[in-house]
Amino acid sequence: MTVEYIPGLAGVPATESSICSIDGARGILSYRGYSVDDLVTHSSFNEVCLLLLKGRLPTSLELDDFDQDQAKFRTLKFRIIELIKQLPDGGHPMDALCATVAAVGMYYPHSMLQEDTDRWGAVMRLIAKVPTIVAAHYRISNADEPLRPREDLDHASNLLYMLSGKIPDPSMARIMDACLILHAEHGMNASTFSARVTGSTLADPYAVIAAAIGTLAGPLHGGANEDVLKMLRTIPNGKSGVSAWVDTQIKEKNKIPGFGHRVYQVKDPRARILQGLAVEMFKQFGSTPLYDIACELEEQLESRLGHKGIYPNVDFYSGIVYEKMSIPAPLMTPIFAIARTAGWLAHWNEQFENNRIFRPSQIYTGLKDQIYVPISER
Ligand code: COA
Repeated sequence: MTVEYIPGLAGVPATESSICSIDGARGILSYRGYSVDDLVTHSSFNEVCLLLLKGRLPTSLELDDFDQDQAKFRTLKFRIIELIKQLPDGGHPMDALCATVAAVGMYYPHSMLQEDTDRWGAVMRLIAKVPTIVAAHYRISNADEPLRPREDLDHASNLLYMLSGKIPDPSMARIMDACLILHAEHGMNASTFSARVTGSTLADPYAVIAAAIGTLAGPLHGGANEDVLKMLRTIPNGKSGVSAWVDTQIKEKNKIPGFGHRVYQVKDPRARILQGLAVEMFKQFGSTPLYDIACELEEQLESRLGHKGIYPNVDFYSGIVYEKMSIPAPLMTPIFAIARTAGWLAHWNEQFENNRIFRPSQIYTGLKDQIYVPISER
């Protein structure tokens, strides 16, 4: 029987899942049946974590317990902070996050994986500690001491506090919370697939999240938001130079960061919502010239590549929003990882509950029946 090879497994189902659904033709993204538009408007990141992990919206008592437990799990062991201090200067924060998450797992032996309570403990620790690791590495890289997480702040406010040392404006924190909701889950993308493959070997959850972080770091996945900002800054002559710049990119067949998506043939709903959040922020905190360039670029590309289904994806406006929050570009993908840890763990749980190790096949294209020549005769 010949099996058709589909590069990138495009459109090939890798699993059954009840976590997230995406309607790529209409641009609708839902977690457990709830549209992200509704979740961003009415929910919080912690509530979305419970929704993703438990499969239903929590009661207020359940959410209060989760909020309190999360706040307690945020701290890092002294030796983990020391480890972060030993990492190479100038290294990318995604590499630091990957290494540190794996190291945290060394404190929690793999043998405890079979118990539900131990698995939930790992889930709680990872969601709570990943932001602390990101913030500690950021501060250490800038020759500042890491800050102890605050138990009295919600997830997003605490994250912004641990980065800057200042309690954020509530509307800024609310927008960060919305960004975390929007990045929390997205079906069978590359990093989630990586998490499921690693989880399917019954590797420990810290290794699962470290593998997913490594996968997210690539410029074709989470790393694109950094590239978007670099691109917007380097387009010559700003807004008026966009049209000529786009012509060159298309002529040279360059992929434009922040555009295109394997699943969406229309504008990514997260890009639409993030753009709305950007506009909301600008009303309160002032606009940025990069936003005008971005809007012009979107318009120009829609007229040139819209027929191919190339529209802004989640990474296109997220960088602009984060920059307005004074978050430096190298932290943008780690913030994506902070949010996506919830989705990865929901998939790890789902994989664990009905596990079969991933072991796809391949189509061999190499040489056959080679005669071995001893090294002395070559
Ligand atoms: N800019 C310009 N053209 C693009 C494009 C982009 N960002 N993304 C896709 N295309 C074009 C391709 O050149 C190709 O055109 P062709 O059929 O004439 O050869 C067509 O659209 C299909 O592209 P393909 O690379 O096969 O799509 P994919 O599904 O394999 O890739 C991405 C999806 C996301 C990897 C791809 O769109 C990309 O590299 N985007 C930029 C990086 C990015 O923003 N990543 C974040 C994703 S959330």
